[in-house]
Amino acid sequence: MLFVWLLLALSWGAHSVVDTRTTVKECDWYSAENHVKQWIAFARAFQGPRDLHALDCFGASCRIRKTWTDRGFESEAYDVSLDPHGQDLSTKKGFRSLVLLGLRLLPNSIIVAGPPCSCFIFLSCSYHLRHQYGPKGATWKPGVRLSNLLVTNFVAWLQVMLAVGSGIKFMIEQPRGSWMFKLKCMRRFQKAANLRLLSTHMGAFDHLMEKPTWLLTNLSGGERLEKSMNKELRAKIKKRQLELGVVPYKKKDGKVCGTKWLPQSAAYTPSFCRAVFNIWAKCWLLLQN
Ligand SMILES: C[S@@+](CC[C@H](N)C(=O)[O-])C[C@H]1O[C@@H](n2cnc3c(N)ncnc32)[C@H](O)[C@@H]1O
Repeated sequence: MLFVWLLLALSWGAHSVVDTRTTVKECDWYSAENHVKQWIAFARAFQGPRDLHALDCFGASCRIRKTWTDRGFESEAYDVSLDPHGQDLSTKKGFRSLVLLGLRLLPNSIIVAGPPCSCFIFLSCSYHLRHQYGPKGATWKPGVRLSNLLVTNFVAWLQVMLAVGSGIKFMIEQPRGSWMFKLKCMRRFQKAANLRLLSTHMGAFDHLMEKPTWLLTNLSGGERLEKSMNKELRAKIKKRQLELGVVPYKKKDGKVCGTKWLPQSAAYTPSFCRAVFNIWAKCWLLLQN
């Protein structure tokens, strides 16, 4: 099969800050949203081992996986950049492999997921037009269609996990300015899984940027991840940036553009991973007794 690495050329910023990818042409994209019942039936027939405590979904950095495995728990990561042919959520094969990974989750295990956000955020608003045309945005543009498909496939998978999993904890992350959680499918899942929307700043977990963030979760004690910005924290982050020469954004032709630092900012910091782990581990231990 012809291998197509379609890194969609979106029209913002000098540097590519695009984290939304597919390895196939649009005619080969797979939409799972109308097949959830079949996938639930497939999942119910699953006889394989359940051995995972955590699934690091869209986890290119593998930091969630590492945090769990370093502490003696089983974890796997799923991301198109880790396995372009097997872990591309825009394909049926990629969807199936995510279902199979999800079926290995133990009762009360956790899914941590930061779905690709570059086509949902403020920096790309002139491309995706989500505010103007509703949360689905400018669907006549291929990048917007792909980003919407990845979310609907992700939610279809979450629905399967909710239907067949037992006590699964969800931790879904997006930058504060993202339109993703406003999509109907996301809202419906939030309600179905009884998820709370928490507000935090990755800068409070040693991130090089303030990075205001939404966390959608049902993890009890998740509120401990909520962090607000204050003068001291802002100064600490600024100091970190100066020390390392980090300039996340710059102005070009009157527009705000991401620099080479911005794509790197997607990776969770070890400090954030540890904080999620500690909260989950407490619940896990309580539920084992
Ligand atoms: C916002 S980043 C999340 C990074 C994560 N927080 C980490 O620590 O690695 C979104 C991720 O989605 C992945 N992604 C983009 N398109 C994908 C696709 N079609 N299938 C699976 N993963 C995809 C990207 O490779 C990227 O790593």
